[in-house]
Amino acid sequence: MRESSQSRYAEIYARWQADPEGFWAEAAKAIDWITPPRRIFDASAGVYGRWFVGGVCNTCYNAVDRHVAAGRGGQAALIYDSPVSGTQRTLTYAELLTEVRTLGAVLRDLGVGKGDRVVLYMPMVPEAVIAMLACARIGAVHSVVFGGFAAKELATRIEDAAPKVILAASCGIEPNRLVAYKPLLDQAIEMAAVKPEACLILKRPQMDCDLVPGRDHDWQETCAAARRAGESVDCAHMAATDPLYVLYTSGTTGKPKGVVRDTGGHLVALRWSMENLYGIKPGEVFWTASDIGWVVGHSYIVYGPLILGATSVIYEGKPVGTPDPGAFWRVIAEHKVVALFTAPTALRAIKKEDPEAAHLAGRDLSAFRTLFLAGERADPDTVRWAEETLNVPVIDHWWQTETGWAIAGNPVGLGTLPVKRGSPTVPMPGYDVRIVDEAARPVPAGVMGSIVIKLPLPPGCLPTLFQQDDRFREGYLTEFPGYYKTSDAGFIDADGYLFVMGRTDDIINVAGHRLSTGGMEEVLASHPDIAECAVIGVKDELKGEVPCGFVVLKAGERRAPEVIEKELVALVRERIGPVAAFKLAITVPRLPKTRSGKILRGTMKKIADAESWAAPATIDDPGALDDIEASLKAHGLGG
Ligand code: COA
Ligand code: AMP
Repeated sequence: MRESSQSRYAEIYARWQADPEGFWAEAAKAIDWITPPRRIFDASAGVYGRWFVGGVCNTCYNAVDRHVAAGRGGQAALIYDSPVSGTQRTLTYAELLTEVRTLGAVLRDLGVGKGDRVVLYMPMVPEAVIAMLACARIGAVHSVVFGGFAAKELATRIEDAAPKVILAASCGIEPNRLVAYKPLLDQAIEMAAVKPEACLILKRPQMDCDLVPGRDHDWQETCAAARRAGESVDCAHMAATDPLYVLYTSGTTGKPKGVVRDTGGHLVALRWSMENLYGIKPGEVFWTASDIGWVVGHSYIVYGPLILGATSVIYEGKPVGTPDPGAFWRVIAEHKVVALFTAPTALRAIKKEDPEAAHLAGRDLSAFRTLFLAGERADPDTVRWAEETLNVPVIDHWWQTETGWAIAGNPVGLGTLPVKRGSPTVPMPGYDVRIVDEAARPVPAGVMGSIVIKLPLPPGCLPTLFQQDDRFREGYLTEFPGYYKTSDAGFIDADGYLFVMGRTDDIINVAGHRLSTGGMEEVLASHPDIAECAVIGVKDELKGEVPCGFVVLKAGERRAPEVIEKELVALVRERIGPVAAFKLAITVPRLPKTRSGKILRGTMKKIADAESWAAPATIDDPGALDDIEASLKAHGLGG
């Protein structure tokens, strides 16, 4: 480990290593417990053990009520900044408490109780955050579905979560169009075998929608009536091990995985990370430019900043085009943001449109201290550009939906370690990160391998998958016994810095969004004219990666390939959603395979990314790779 005289990281990490339970017991003191935990870690409970067993607490209480009780009622909790709707609104902690109490009472009146699931399909509006907190308040388990997913994906999640109630809005606002959410919700409910008892619909001024009699309720009217009647609800007493939420994420098949977040461990881990990783103090303004539909939004738009008593910015807009590439600098300056957390792709978008950062001119960024990046690999060029443009430390950190907070990062609150561009720096306390080969043997420093984490995972990480303990064991714990498999590959250098280079499975990362190529292949294969297909992620300057589908048409197909390719692009958009950014389907005469029939996706990717490649010895028909190269060339790809 490189020494840094200013950083307490080495000392704190060593303290955790020496006494993990003592470390987390200390961290747990920053949380208000109704009943303190009986045991910090119980190795005999759950799939690999459970944190804070016997503890009773409530997440909404810790995120809202306790700050009002401590005299922070007049402080801003949320700043809503929406260039796409031309609105700004600030909610103080006291106002947030009133809103959450009312919506909690409305949900209770709709029959929602402890343990019931509630699905949210919402744009980036304050009501979405209020809804998540209202669920937490009454002990309901929320499951937020990102607005860029299509009806079919929403239906899959509704079917798995079996929500009692769904909360949605009439529309989302994209720079070039309004996205009518309500028809998508109606289609999804129609498709799903499991139906909600009720829906609460937020009618936005930009777009009205029809309500289904007997099922749908108008959000504003219902809440106004509850407010007039003086309705309110107190915080439910939750076991630390009770689920707070389920968040679906892409797996290696089309069926998404329901990542479960527990109550106590999540509170403790996020509170620790806000202070020690992000270096934020209560009362400061923290901005995560993501979406509440992703884990980054759950942890650092909603829960992390509020648990700490900071002010969180909810931004409904894009880095560019709303209205210009200076949007991020405007928000930082206007709201005195001290730290921004975004995905590298957002910076690449800004850099592309405004390489000289002319839009920074005249903006007062004096409050701004740190830029945090995650969601995809932070390429050194983008990091350098951001450092030079903003003149603040640019901190990459690496994590996953499953972990809920950073596995590796540079702990600003403990004293920033020297930055090595391209590395998310070092493991956070709680994570014992190892690099291993296929036989689970440790590899030397500097050698690439699978990144695994020694069990148990720290507080805040998933205890299991929703109603699927076996899938959790098989998907994460079986291949490397005693370890959690991250499905990322990388290496640790001689200074102990981690480098995360890419996935070992079929997940691709498109503009910071995690997508399954297997899921896209299922959609392509369902087209009647397709004999077989393969989807790979191709390098993209802006989005990091974009999907590219290769298809073989059924014998005797007479329609022009271009017509079918267009249908395939539309089909993926319809089934998975615009977020898949699937714009390229290429017809080829055959797919390259090994003699045992395995499609050579890795080699295809190398060709598409213009990297050096060689046909593997096991290839069945070497000419098939030449076909791929020729088809890619015809589309201007592959160098
Ligand atoms: N509801 C409906 N549609 C949505 C949506 C939402 N909430 N979010 C995105 N979409 C649509 C977009 O309109 C776009 O549709 P199009 O194909 O008709 O243009 C498509 O999904 C892809 O969206 P996106 O990936 O956002 O690409 P983009 O081209 O619109 O913008 C960036 C590119 C780089 C500006 C954008 O990806 C960005 O800001 N990324 C930040 C990454 C991020 O927040 N990651 C979260 C994890 S940290
Ligand atoms: P998600 O679950 O959507 O947060 O996506 C998690 C995946 O994104 C990880 O498994 C990585 O492949 C990738 N990822 C996230 N952050 C980083 C990072 N800082 N560096 C490299 N890859 C990252």
